[in-house]
Amino acid sequence: MTDSNHQGAVFSPMTISDADFRRLANFVHSTYGIDLSQKRQLITGRLSVTIKQLGYKSFTDFIDHILKTRDEKEITLLLNKLTTNYTFFMREQDHLDYFRDHIIPEIVRRHEKDKSLAIWSAGCSTGEEPYNISMYLLDYLGAQASQWDTRILATDISAQALNTAKQGIYELPDTIPAEWRRKYFIDQKDGRHAVCPALKNNVIFQPFNLMEPIKFRRKFDVIFCRNVMIYFDQPTKDALVQRFYDATNPGGYLLISYSENLSPGTPYRRLAPATFQK
Ligand SMILES: C[S@@+](CC[C@H](N)C(=O)[O-])C[C@H]1O[C@@H](n2cnc3c(N)ncnc32)[C@H](O)[C@@H]1O
Repeated sequence: MTDSNHQGAVFSPMTISDADFRRLANFVHSTYGIDLSQKRQLITGRLSVTIKQLGYKSFTDFIDHILKTRDEKEITLLLNKLTTNYTFFMREQDHLDYFRDHIIPEIVRRHEKDKSLAIWSAGCSTGEEPYNISMYLLDYLGAQASQWDTRILATDISAQALNTAKQGIYELPDTIPAEWRRKYFIDQKDGRHAVCPALKNNVIFQPFNLMEPIKFRRKFDVIFCRNVMIYFDQPTKDALVQRFYDATNPGGYLLISYSENLSPGTPYRRLAPATFQK
């Protein structure tokens, strides 16, 4: 065997039987809402090396172990491999600008007395979205910001993504305004940028599986759930939107991404593209 053949053998994906594929896809769908029914190649491509490294000889052994023990560490590894954490600052900037121009003024008016906003970034990935929302909020409130509680709840199922989010150190895209770079980031020696304490303290990161009942202490003025429900099938999506609705204050908002839509039967009223109100 030549060297290149040898390498090919080491890195070639393991095969997965129809029965094992169904067992794994059913488990991930029923527990996390993620629809893998068309993702057989993604499973073998992304998981083969990890499974070998963990010491399993086959998908059957790995799936047997997960289903029997619900081993948290290995399920975390599995989710980290299967979810796509792709995100970036200023994603769909028009939408964030709509939030600044129409939604922030409205919720600030509504909370003039208690000076406390309840905002949730559901499926926050590595943190760019909730930090970005914080920049918009702090910028809007200006000198008044210190009198307000603008803390954002930011949740995800991926422990790996949440660790990166908590560190808050990024390579910044050019789309971040120069003034915001100066105001909200601290230059690092390696050329990256750390979010400043005001921003860091404004986001509370927590693991949360969106398939679970929503039992947070407060109802939300705004829920951002952008580019997350794309992984869910329609019934899973509809049930989650109903749970979001129940967890939203009257007059509160749900923001999804421009590439998504809600079922015609959604209880929310559509206000603008990707923007819904209770
Ligand atoms: C593509 S990222 C979106 C990040 C950000 N909201 C944005 O629009 O840029 C999708 C995130 O959804 C998370 N996710 C997928 N299924 C989830 C579930 N059942 N519960 C919580 N988070 C989930 C993934 O871990 C991933 O970080």
